[in-house]
Amino acid sequence: MSKKATIEFDGKKYEFPIVVGTENEVAIQIKSLRGDTGGLITLDPGYKNTGSCESAITFLNGEEGILRYRGYAIEELADNASFLEVAYLLIFGELPTQQQLDKLYADIKRESNVDEEMKKILDGFPKSAHPMGVLSSLTSALIAFNPSAVNVDSEEDMYNAIIKLLAKFPVLVAWTLRKRQGQPLDYGDSSLGYVENILKMMFKKPSENYEVDPVVASALNKLLILHADHEQNCSTSTVRIVGSSHAGLFASISAGISALWGPLHGGANQAVIEMLEGIKQDGGDTKKYMKKAKDKNDPFRLMGFGHRVYKNFDPRAKIIKKSADEVLGKLGVQDPVLDIAKGLEKEALEDSYFVDRKLYPNVDFYSGIIYRALGIPTEMFTVMFALGRLPGWIAQWREMRLKKEPIGRPRQVYTGENLRSFKPMENR
Ligand code: SDX
Repeated sequence: MSKKATIEFDGKKYEFPIVVGTENEVAIQIKSLRGDTGGLITLDPGYKNTGSCESAITFLNGEEGILRYRGYAIEELADNASFLEVAYLLIFGELPTQQQLDKLYADIKRESNVDEEMKKILDGFPKSAHPMGVLSSLTSALIAFNPSAVNVDSEEDMYNAIIKLLAKFPVLVAWTLRKRQGQPLDYGDSSLGYVENILKMMFKKPSENYEVDPVVASALNKLLILHADHEQNCSTSTVRIVGSSHAGLFASISAGISALWGPLHGGANQAVIEMLEGIKQDGGDTKKYMKKAKDKNDPFRLMGFGHRVYKNFDPRAKIIKKSADEVLGKLGVQDPVLDIAKGLEKEALEDSYFVDRKLYPNVDFYSGIIYRALGIPTEMFTVMFALGRLPGWIAQWREMRLKKEPIGRPRQVYTGENLRSFKPMENR
């Protein structure tokens, strides 16, 4: 017998079905609320208590700090899988066989050319343009050069659009970086692996050979896996709602990139390094900044701390912190901001303001320290987050489209003026 929830309003009782997920998450399914009650809706700014969908892709348990992609623990995937394997897992639901993985990469390599005309769009941006704005624009511009990938309904057409994006997005990321650096735009080398080729496209100098450093490739592979999906976060919800209007995959992903850019979301990885650098320049006085973070009258926030879902350690932050020590050690990089970050974390975890609010380091707190050690400029950090999140966005978009979810259109409670007559200019 399925459980029900009862809402009592205006002396009447209304029953609604309870939905229970495979990890025993429980929801009141209120599809008929407005109709049954003659107009009642729910109100939940920021959707802190509202589920937008049922999804089989990623499971988070914020209280216990658990993250799984299609049932596999993030710790196991980060240690054992390749980014392309994880992309396949998120999008198609199972870890690929070698044959399936080989076919995926072969299909990707066939689509890895980007129309040369796209370079004219890139040329239109000043070197000072933020890479996230450039990447969002170039991703949207892909629509014009790949019209068959726009309104896709069949699984085959979806697959072709997905392959085009997995193939061309890393090229756009590399071009965005190289344009800022005044470097020629490269297509990389299809004899390399997916992640190794991304590094070559990003860092190969025109007059030199480029040898992929296995330490760098392994670190980037792990970072991309850790960022690959995170259920219904702000940018993924954006991808879903834009996709729900059938605007197409490229347009949905372009919108997701813009949502991720915000400093409260993916933009935090850039903001963390800028914050740590600011503390270093200011003499490294972490106590001063802890005080600012707790002062309600001070807009300063401890960037990289806190999370809407995790009220325990973000499991990704634990892995990245450990990896930061390993990667910087292997690369022989000394970065004083790593010690400042560790000092801030220690102080915060002993401070009642953070402990009471369950504010722990999140995925963005240590990631920038590794990106910097890999030679990636600070303004490109959120682009690297987007590169990692691409398969998750694609998986969530595909799930939404295959389930034929309705167009996303929330209600509101109107609090403006009641009916009033037009006022001629002379009476205003
Ligand atoms: C990502 O959702 C996802 O899954 C996102 C993500 C993903 O993989 O997609 O995990 C990636 O976006 C990680 C988060 C990156 N953002 C930051 O690091 C920015 C700093 N963090 C905060 O702005 C904040 O913690 C959020 C935005 C992450 C979460 O905000 P919420 O859930 O809306 O919580 P809130 O702002 O209501 O804060 C609750 C309390 C408040 O204090 P009180 O009003 O209760 O007294 O905690 C305080 C806040 O002032 N607080 C902080 C703080 N974060 C929350 N105080 C100081 N520093 C902080 N960082």
